[in-house]
Amino acid sequence: MDKMWKGRFSKELDSRVNDFNSSISFDSRMYKEDIEGSIAHATMLGNQGIISKEDSACIVENLEAILADIESGKLAFDMTAEDIHMFIEAELTKRIGTVGKKLHTARSRNDQVAVDMKLYVKKELKEIKALLLKLIETLVKLAEENVETIMPGYTHLQRAQPITFAHYMMAYVEMFKRDYMRLSNSLDIMNYCPLGSGALASTTYNIDREFTAAKLGFAGPTMNSMDGVSDRDFCMEAASDIAIAMVHLSRLSEEIILWCSWEFKFVELDDAFATGSSIMPQKKNPDITELVRGKAARCIGDLNTLLVMMKGLPLAYNKDMQEDKEAMFDSIDTIKICLTTIIPMLSTMKVIKKNMENAAKKGFINATDVADYLVKKGLAFRDAYKITGEIVKECIEQDLTLDSLPLSTYKKYSDCFAGDIYEAIDLKTCVNGRKVLGGPSEEIELKHIALIKQFLTENKLYERLESED
Ligand code: ARG
Repeated sequence: MDKMWKGRFSKELDSRVNDFNSSISFDSRMYKEDIEGSIAHATMLGNQGIISKEDSACIVENLEAILADIESGKLAFDMTAEDIHMFIEAELTKRIGTVGKKLHTARSRNDQVAVDMKLYVKKELKEIKALLLKLIETLVKLAEENVETIMPGYTHLQRAQPITFAHYMMAYVEMFKRDYMRLSNSLDIMNYCPLGSGALASTTYNIDREFTAAKLGFAGPTMNSMDGVSDRDFCMEAASDIAIAMVHLSRLSEEIILWCSWEFKFVELDDAFATGSSIMPQKKNPDITELVRGKAARCIGDLNTLLVMMKGLPLAYNKDMQEDKEAMFDSIDTIKICLTTIIPMLSTMKVIKKNMENAAKKGFINATDVADYLVKKGLAFRDAYKITGEIVKECIEQDLTLDSLPLSTYKKYSDCFAGDIYEAIDLKTCVNGRKVLGGPSEEIELKHIALIKQFLTENKLYERLESED
């Protein structure tokens, strides 16, 4: 394809440079945003009398036809074009001649690519937000079914204190809720339209930036033309939000990998969401979760690419910024495929309550409650703690648990012990006694679940309203 800018040059671009320079192989996915941006621009040019109303209408009509032809498969991308922007403009000119050549009045590819990219990222982040709501919904359902499922909570991967499976799931709900809020926040911050910034110094034409910004769904135009074309904070923020969410998904995946092992056997994946081994017939592997854990690395890498790519750039546009796309797209694609796979995996996963409860019976996870029992009978915590440590030591030596240790042995350590110790250290009592805000008791968990359900309803409603806009 002929270069738009060939007038100033006396030689063709070397074919090796051509391939090196070109971005159409990856930016063609922004065709819709590019056309949308051009339609807003052309409409504004017509309204402002910068081009005639007829030319404006002709451009808009033909851009719409190009969009329809791309979507129906009638029009294929020309891979020799430099990028999607050049391709669409050239196609328009092919169709309507000189009128098509007027589209780029009062615009540069620099503000064009900035607006396309923002529109694209905005659209994708909204989809990721919707997927996060689905994930939260799935985890809440698991929580609701397991408010009474006692399991050990761990620190240092050592059994620590009794909790419920609901409490575990709701911990991840909080993480994904923050991810959702981070994305909402980023969407608000990026919601300003760079179109009209021109190459870097805006334009002498009397354009209407408020109009194009509103038509494209932004809160308003950006306030500095140099920043408008050279800002990629929105990519760095989006990639950062995604990387953090992927870290959360990766941690959840790691839990599930452990829980699927025979050492834990707390959960069993549905056959449709697990894989076998090519040699070991007994194997059922949690490949999905391992891949999610692995793919988190890509998203962290994508964020790194964007940060390092930007850190040394003088204002305003530099071609380095073309590199934003593959990193941003990879980060978006990766989290989307991870979410769409892990959600049904979680909703079909079987929770083996019995094994969780059995594991909770071992490991002296109610030792803190023995100490607390003594404190309630008047001892200072440090003294109670020391006595309990000695009792645990004796239990280990005699191969007993705190629940099976005879009262006479307890009494050897303190007169404060009475028959009510067994009730006090029953795992149910331990869990349900933790009624403080944020605790694992059934009463508090159900309140938390209700709050999250309200959050889901409000945000689903909001998303529906937004998509109707
Ligand atoms: N393909 C370019 C990019 O993705 C478009 C902007 C090019 N502008 C320029 N002056 N070379 O960044």
